[in-house]
Amino acid sequence: MNINKKDNGLFITATGTEIGKTVVSAGIAATLKNVGINVGVMKPISSGDTSDAEYLKHAAQVDDPLNLINPISLRYPLAPSVSARIEGIPIDIASIETMYGTLSKKYDFMIVEGVGGIAVPINDDFLVSHLIHRLNLPTLIIALSGLGTINHTKLTVEFARQNNIKIIGIVLNQINADTTGLAEQTNPEEIERLTNVPIVGNVPYDKKLESQYPDPQFMVEYFRQHIQWNKLHLF
Ligand SMILES: Nc1ncnc2c1ncn2[C@@H]1O[C@H](COP(=O)(O)OP(=O)(O)OP(=O)(O)O)[C@@H](O)[C@H]1O
Ligand SMILES: [Mg+2]
Repeated sequence: MNINKKDNGLFITATGTEIGKTVVSAGIAATLKNVGINVGVMKPISSGDTSDAEYLKHAAQVDDPLNLINPISLRYPLAPSVSARIEGIPIDIASIETMYGTLSKKYDFMIVEGVGGIAVPINDDFLVSHLIHRLNLPTLIIALSGLGTINHTKLTVEFARQNNIKIIGIVLNQINADTTGLAEQTNPEEIERLTNVPIVGNVPYDKKLESQYPDPQFMVEYFRQHIQWNKLHLF
């Protein structure tokens, strides 16, 4: 990997929830750490539990307290704005920026996992896309590798563009053990043609990634292989 830092981090979004943001964020963090980059992780907002932050913390092998990695932990597994409304506490964006500031001073590169997809509401008039702007980070989009992904990926890319978000690439991810077929084979080329965004990784399913604490060394080997680091111009 050619180390010549351009941005100070990466915001990981996806075409929706349960697409592989945490797994891919963790894989990227573990791999960067393995080549000697001082990498930090953040999951600013979680809904339901703090398992994403724990997964990221384990993969990146950092010692920050969970409430710094994951400052806003909402009670209900709902869109953040909805959970916050039920709980009666609006989400404090300024506190996220402060915590991000603290972490980004400590680390040379930050991997920040979003919540749901890019248009998910955080407060009444504040979406994930607005958070990306506040943190001033380029974005990597995670999408499913199989049938149905073209539409969701195109919508996500167009929404990001309309909102002047810099897209660094798309990673296709397989979240179940189903046999792959023609859709998986033909999707990368069609998505690149339609969006003009490079596919910078194609991550197959592996049961070991489903563990709450996968072996970081396994993650490094797996993500070294399945991310095309030469197309991902982070450094
Ligand atoms: N390549 C993979 N191989 C095996 N399992 C995977 C893979 N990618 C994701 N998974 C599993 O699929 C599920 C969804 O992945 P993940 O939690 O990373 O999605 P997410 O986009 O972060 O979801 P959320 O919106 O809840 O944050 C998890 O149970 C995860 O372990
Ligand atoms: Mg997640």
